[in-house]
Amino acid sequence: MAKLKNYSVVTLGLILLITSACKKDEHYINTVEIPDFNFPKTITFEHNLSTYGIYQGAVNELVPAIEFQLLELSSVLFTDYSQKQRLIKVPSGTQLTRLADGSIDFPDGTILVKTFYYYHDASDPSLGKRIIESRLLIKESNTWNAATYIWNEAQTDATLELNGSDTQVNWIDQNGTNRSTNYHIPTENECMACHQVNSSIFPIGPSLRNLNRSVERDGNILNQLDHLQSLGILNSFPVNQVTQIVDYNDPLASISERGRAYLDMNCAHCHNPKGWDIPAQVDIDFRYELPVDQTGIIYEKDKISNALTHGKMPFIGTTLKDEEGITLVLQYLESL
Ligand code: HEC
Ligand code: HEC
Repeated sequence: MAKLKNYSVVTLGLILLITSACKKDEHYINTVEIPDFNFPKTITFEHNLSTYGIYQGAVNELVPAIEFQLLELSSVLFTDYSQKQRLIKVPSGTQLTRLADGSIDFPDGTILVKTFYYYHDASDPSLGKRIIESRLLIKESNTWNAATYIWNEAQTDATLELNGSDTQVNWIDQNGTNRSTNYHIPTENECMACHQVNSSIFPIGPSLRNLNRSVERDGNILNQLDHLQSLGILNSFPVNQVTQIVDYNDPLASISERGRAYLDMNCAHCHNPKGWDIPAQVDIDFRYELPVDQTGIIYEKDKISNALTHGKMPFIGTTLKDEEGITLVLQYLESL
């Protein structure tokens, strides 16, 4: 009897714990809504992705047209284990310019494209893929415009969608395990929640330090910045002056660099003083370039690990938890 009683006390305790945990989750979802940012637009997006002529040949092969260049990043955003292709086009005769503060100035007319897809079987890409969406950032009159295009079932084209959507995706991962997700295609306001700096839209990934890495082009291993300079689409400056961000999956990099690189590309677009005001007000600034004692990471260690392990953060952008990424960040926090 005594034993049973103990059990029921434990059960009651558990139920209380679970309900309070649920309350907290509800609190999270209900108190913060993504506002209608209503940032000004300087273009009208085309209805069909094909109008932009991004691909040549069979479009579902995702072979970029001659004016589009591949961009590869060292540190990337996690999105439900999807694969991503990133492309850039600058109008002919123009180029990207390094500014005095080390950031990139993109010419008007620049198009950045990020396409999300899943291999049916990640261990054998030859079995084909399902392309979900292509997100575009287009700069015109010194202002960036953001929109996404959802690919049709025949994988022949994609159409503009500003209101977001959800789609069931099934695939087999590298280890042969069947995986699935209710993949979320972001709304226009969700794009803006992540892509804002001082209430205007900006690109996030292509910084000089995130592009400063080796890539393979036509069978040659090259530095990506050198390559962009040789194509004439990046202005000329000594590439060896540029710092690098590590690939957070690189086991040879230090745990502190890997942890910081992950938090930079998965969290800092919201958690920095110039981002969306609500997360900007949380006392954490995850930008890679800040010395750790100015980020709040040490002070807010417990909050960060809680938010990650309970799936509360990142606030939007993924439906599945990034198990490997979370393990990495917990290991990093532990090391502090
Ligand atoms: C959860 C935050 C988040 C949301 C929501 C989001 N993005 Fe991004 N986006 C990022 C980050 C971080 C990167 C850079 C890292 C990467 O590409 O892996 C990025 C990269 C991109 C790129 C490649 C150029 C660049 O800025 O790096 C494009 C284009 C883009 N996003 C467009 C969009 C559009 C359009 C939407 C809405 C339909 C959208 N994004 C929604 C965070 C987000
Ligand atoms: C799309 C924007 C966005 C992204 C990306 C994002 N956050 Fe947040 N974060 C928020 C918002 C909004 C809040 C405030 C939530 C609230 O008050 O309920 C918040 C709050 C937090 C808090 C404070 C929670 C608390 O208990 O007070 C932590 C810690 C946090 N985020 C960590 C992270 C980490 C780690 C990542 C990356 C894995 C991340 N965030 C990515 C928007 C974001």
